[in-house]
Amino acid sequence: MDMKLEIAKSLSAACGVAAEEIAAAIEVPANTDMGDFAYPCFKLAKVLRKAPPLIAQEIGEKLEKPDFIADVKIVGAYINFFMDKHFYTKKVLETVLTEKENYGKSDMGAGKTIVIDYSSPNIAKPFHVGHLRSTVIGNALYQIHSQLGYKCVGVNHLGDWGTQFGKLIVAYKKWGSKEAVEEKGIQELMRIYVKFHDEAEKAPELDDEARLWFVKMQDGDDEALTLWKWFYDISIKEFERVYDMLGVKFDAYTGESFYNDKMAAVVDELKEKGLLEESEGAMIVNLEDKNMPPCLIIRKDGGTLYATRDITAALYRKKTYNFDKCIYLTALDQNLHFAQWFEVIHKMGYDWYKDLIHVPFGLVSLDSGKLSTRHGNVVLMEDLLHQAIAETKKIIEEKNPSLPDKEEVAKKVGIGAVIFNDLYNTRIKDVVFSWERMLNFDGETGPYVQYTHARACSILKKAPDFTAENIDFSKLDDEASLNVCKLLEAFPSKIVDAAAKLEPYVLTRHLVAISQAFNKFYHDNPILNSEAEVRQARLAVVVAVKTVLAAGLALLGIDAPEQM
Ligand code: ARG
Repeated sequence: MDMKLEIAKSLSAACGVAAEEIAAAIEVPANTDMGDFAYPCFKLAKVLRKAPPLIAQEIGEKLEKPDFIADVKIVGAYINFFMDKHFYTKKVLETVLTEKENYGKSDMGAGKTIVIDYSSPNIAKPFHVGHLRSTVIGNALYQIHSQLGYKCVGVNHLGDWGTQFGKLIVAYKKWGSKEAVEEKGIQELMRIYVKFHDEAEKAPELDDEARLWFVKMQDGDDEALTLWKWFYDISIKEFERVYDMLGVKFDAYTGESFYNDKMAAVVDELKEKGLLEESEGAMIVNLEDKNMPPCLIIRKDGGTLYATRDITAALYRKKTYNFDKCIYLTALDQNLHFAQWFEVIHKMGYDWYKDLIHVPFGLVSLDSGKLSTRHGNVVLMEDLLHQAIAETKKIIEEKNPSLPDKEEVAKKVGIGAVIFNDLYNTRIKDVVFSWERMLNFDGETGPYVQYTHARACSILKKAPDFTAENIDFSKLDDEASLNVCKLLEAFPSKIVDAAAKLEPYVLTRHLVAISQAFNKFYHDNPILNSEAEVRQARLAVVVAVKTVLAAGLALLGIDAPEQM
């Protein structure tokens, strides 16, 4: 039930202004003495040409209040609404208790497809913390949209094609060995790749050699492709370990190489549409009219580029999935890249260019010193997740030494903490990794929400007799209970809001708010030892909170252990 809208409808009937317009102006007063909702009549003054207090008075006389409102008071220009608390708590809790984990699910996106391009690490390079954000935000947006009935297609646009693979082949042939690559995987590939760059500074002809190998790859040369495939398989295996730990899946692993045989047609189309220009031997699309540097399509040596593959991929995805939206999760520094090639699609005459959305995010910085890195200056995702688990285990050892499945719980909580920390602020804000902060069981953290959920579970374990029938909701007449209900009631609208803004923080923050309200409720109200009817009503609150916290965490890609 959207209470603001219900109130707006009754106001609308009394004054003739559209309900949606009114709903947008309805406030929730900080002080509940002023009501649970308030409508300021100032905006109506222009339309109705009367003084706001007079308007409030007149509406007040005509108003037929919705059934969940017990009282309406006019104070100056404000119309204040006081809820019928029992009716309200009953309605909210009954809804959560019957809908269970589907609470908040809707079909608003039914029939719509959204392609989500996320994670997309680069083959033969380590999966570093920068890719974590793309993975975690992309996965949350995937879950959130799925909950709203959208068909989601998760695509991993792996960086598995380009001149760098020519470099890697040269490096491998000169300084690599089969044994070392097999033993050390990406680390070894990284080592020889770095060596290539050092050596190429002294001997620039190495670069020409590398370009040649990439052209060979493009042309389907056996030796080149066999080596490339080998590097690919090694990298994917390492990435999959990280995805397993994070619980992330993709519907398609169509990386850049997938478009190798599809780019020629796109280049032809650009030519036919008169968009391709020669510039210093390369082929470009001029974007001067948009005040942007040209979009490079083909290099002087015939090599295609990152943008060429993105343009081709977008056309392929439109044809294959007929998406309503295609969103791209990358760091902010790729803004120009996306703006440029989106514009190329526009110039090609495709009006769906406006459905391509770059969803940028800020950087990750490390709370220096504490994060051990075995591998020089790049912090690997896998190391980081293992460290999160180890740190969490230390805390659990201290707080709850007799906990069964400590390892399993530490994994859920440690990884949950990393994910939650990443999703706690607007995307654009940089993320700081501080173990101390993100593992604080009392902070605004994943472990805090998980701990609150586990607390609810443990209360319920001690009340196996609880049934959700014949509950007397009038027993929940305290402020703390009502606050919990208000937040539970808002949960479905937060999912919608998170999707509309493409901002998972809307949910993380709401889960913290629910947890805080629940802990206050728990602190103020004895549950298990109170009189039978009160006990039952309070247990209903506990069940509802447990349900919503677990559902919310799941939407963020975080597990909710029952004990911790
Ligand atoms: N592989 C790229 C990188 O690591 C990200 C790819 C993002 N997706 C895309 N379609 N461009 O920076």
